[in-house]
Amino acid sequence: MERIYIRDLRHSMDNSEAELNGWIQEVRKLKKISFLILRDSTGTVQVTLKPENIPDIDFITGVNRESVISVRGTVTKEGVAKSGIEVVAKSVKILNQAGTPLPLGITDPVEADFDTRLNNRFLDLRKPDKHLIFRVESSLLWGIRKFLMSNDFIEVHTPKIVAAATEGGADLFRVQYFEKNAYLNQSPQLYKEILISGGIDRVFEVGPAFRAEEHNTVRHLNEFTSVDIEMAFSDHNDAMKMLENAVRSGIQEVVDKNNESLELHGIHLKVPDVPFPRITYRDCISILEKEGQSVAFGEDFTPEQLREIGKKFPDFYFITEWPSSVRPFYTMPKPGDDEVTNSYDLQFGEKEITSGAQRVHDPELLEKRFRQKGLDPSAFEFYIKAFKYGMPPHAGWGLGLERLSMIILNLPNIREVTLFPRDRTRIVP
Ligand code: 4AD
Ligand code: MG
Repeated sequence: MERIYIRDLRHSMDNSEAELNGWIQEVRKLKKISFLILRDSTGTVQVTLKPENIPDIDFITGVNRESVISVRGTVTKEGVAKSGIEVVAKSVKILNQAGTPLPLGITDPVEADFDTRLNNRFLDLRKPDKHLIFRVESSLLWGIRKFLMSNDFIEVHTPKIVAAATEGGADLFRVQYFEKNAYLNQSPQLYKEILISGGIDRVFEVGPAFRAEEHNTVRHLNEFTSVDIEMAFSDHNDAMKMLENAVRSGIQEVVDKNNESLELHGIHLKVPDVPFPRITYRDCISILEKEGQSVAFGEDFTPEQLREIGKKFPDFYFITEWPSSVRPFYTMPKPGDDEVTNSYDLQFGEKEITSGAQRVHDPELLEKRFRQKGLDPSAFEFYIKAFKYGMPPHAGWGLGLERLSMIILNLPNIREVTLFPRDRTRIVP
């Protein structure tokens, strides 16, 4: 007999035999017959137990909630269940018994505090709304991947144990690498660029990035998933187009695959129109000055300032032409105006989702930029070398997958979209 998912039960299957596997969510004992609410990864269904079919009915109804079972039975249309479908069991096998009491309830109307939920993540994920988050994240990434693959990108994997900092010296996790010091990589940036010199032309990578940020906020993790691209013979405008279309394709895939479940949970997703608005860093300063704030050119915006700008742009938009002082050494200065750079952030309201830029491709300018940033180029020999023997102009970006998931699901904390978050105080589970 074939296993079927609860989601796939149909009225047309009336009287046919089915095998269902899952967890006992609830037991209801009546005088003669009893009911189980069986839950699998796709939904719940009522299973009717009759003593004439199930001789050990008392044993079955006595096992603890959340025990794992396999049910074989007859799909029945005119069941008393709300969905109009139930399964009348012919046999029930207990595959594994759950202990009691549960450290976290699955159906409790009042949600446990976040720490208890994360400490018992395996139970938390059995709740349909939590499970849905990770289905959405998976669809989102699949939509982005499909888009990039159809635009001639190839997926690559670069080292996470590295010898040099990518995004500046701070926020690095040190690791002991035999007799040497090494670090956990903050971004695949340098390796993506070396691959451009390797003639691969268009690369993307989905992988962990590590940041030893001390602060605990609702949008920072110490380990996050970075979706990165790099494209040759391209500038920042080409990379921005690729980005807005990748985001659009990701959200389209989420809608195509999950809309029914999302609607069920009251989430109405809209696929965004492209192109996204673009405003410059200097325009943002003007917006803030009109609101009576004075902003020094050359500094990052504070969270309060981004909130103010976000009020004007509540959806996706780009902030472009950031000052050189706040962008890493690899960022291309804007020709004719080198106080600013050919760089951008993709924002959603006040939240940053992506940073990107056209990169410096001239090795002499690159070494100059290292020195301007107070960095010693000799620590980056392996990287600069790739620029000396034929490096194409190139551009790219790095997108925080959790940030994007959090935004499209309108969740208040990045930990909600992270299976096992790593933050200042948490490395378990
Ligand atoms: O802005 P970031 O630091 O830029 C880079 O890593 C560049 N190498 C990207 C490039 O190609 N130029 O990080 C990129 C994105 C951010 O916009 C944010 O979405 C996410 O990664 N991110 C974090 N997400 C969660 N927790 C953190 N601590 C994050 N730090 C960055
Ligand atoms: Mg950034």
